Formats: sequence, structure tokens, C-alpha cells
Amino acid sequence: MERQEIAVNELLVNPFELWSTNWALLTSGDFASRHFNSMTVAWGSLGIMWNKPFAMVVVRPQRYTRQFIDESDSFTLSVFPEAYRQILETLGTKSGREMDKINASGLTPTASTKVASPSFLEAELLVECRKMYFADFEPKHFLSDFIKDLYKNDYHRMYFGEVLAIAGTARYKLAP
Ligand SMILES: Cc1cc2nc3c(=O)[nH]c(=O)nc-3n(C[C@H](O)[C@H](O)[C@H](O)COP(=O)(O)O)c2cc1C
Repeated sequence: MERQEIAVNELLVNPFELWSTNWALLTSGDFASRHFNSMTVAWGSLGIMWNKPFAMVVVRPQRYTRQFIDESDSFTLSVFPEAYRQILETLGTKSGREMDKINASGLTPTASTKVASPSFLEAELLVECRKMYFADFEPKHFLSDFIKDLYKNDYHRMYFGEVLAIAGTARYKLAP
């Protein structure tokens, strides 16, 4: 995939489409020692916090990826072309605890530019993040009734990562 560096103020993306339609592959761990895991995510955000550009992801306690992201100081988000949807479905239903799902997916993990967590060669958009903050959702603070129906006591932990690098295909870059 032919990607170029994209500065945060040049990034062209509809965040609602990105999360709920495209999805992303969240990866955390260490590429050099091949100790990492990935899972599909569809909930999250991109924005500014503490004057830094951030990506925020939410991970339930039972995900295998959770132990990697808790141990690591970084994570990446990889967004793929539509043709990879089936692969993202599989990476979002199978657990790395039970099988080498990344190897089975045929995707190619590759070193990131700024963080230890790997990216994927086939991605059309890559976001590299350094963890800045985490917090667990507090069920007493859910103000809409529908939210509690989404949980069985497995409240997500949210992670805010400072965006250190973005690379993407031309469609993700604002024309000068
Ligand atoms: C489209 C889609 C979106 C998902 N989004 C999330 C999410 O935002 N947070 C989460 O904890 N799990 C999410 N999941 C579930 C995980 O991807 C799934 O449980 C995965 O198998 C976990 O893999 P792991 O055990 O190897 O970490 C999603 C699954 C799919 C298919």
C-alpha cells in the first residue's frame, strides 16, 4: 500500500465513518520481540486532549489484547481497504489466546516509525500512539439506560494515546 506521512492538520477523515463503518485493527506490544496482539475495534475517537492530538480506544477486560496494551507504552491503529473486511471480522471474533490469528490472517506486521507496537503493511491508514492515560468506565456514571445492556460487568478500559505519527494513502491527505 502506497502511504505517505500525514500531519495531524492534514488528515482527511470522517471519524464516524472510520469507526463505525471501516473499523480499525488495534495492535499493541513489541514488534522487535514479536510479542504483540491485535483485535478489531469499532468504538473510539480522535481528537485533542491536554493540547495533544489523541486516539482513544476502549478494550474489555477479557480481550487478550488487553494484557498487551496494559504492559506496553504504545498502540497503533491500522485501517484497511474494504477488501479486508472478512479478515477484520475474524480478528474481531477469534482470540489470539487460542490461535495465531495474525499469522492465519495473512496480514504483514511491520515496524512502526515512532513506537514499538507494530503496524500493518496492507493498511491504508496507520496511526501510531504513545499511551497517555487510561481509565475504567464507572457503571454508576452511565446516564442512559441502554448502556448497561451492553455489559455483563465487563466494563471497558479506555486508553488515550498521543498521536505521534500518521501515514496514509492519498485519500486521507487534504489537498494543499
Ligand atoms: C467490528 C468489531 C468491533 C469491535 N470493537 C471492539 C471494541 O471497540 N472494544 C473491544 O473490547 N472489543 C471489540 N470487538 C471485539 C474484539 O475484537 C474481539 O473480542 C477479539 O476477538 C479480541 O481478540 P483478542 O482476544 O485476541 O484480543 C470488536 C469486534 C468486531 C467484530
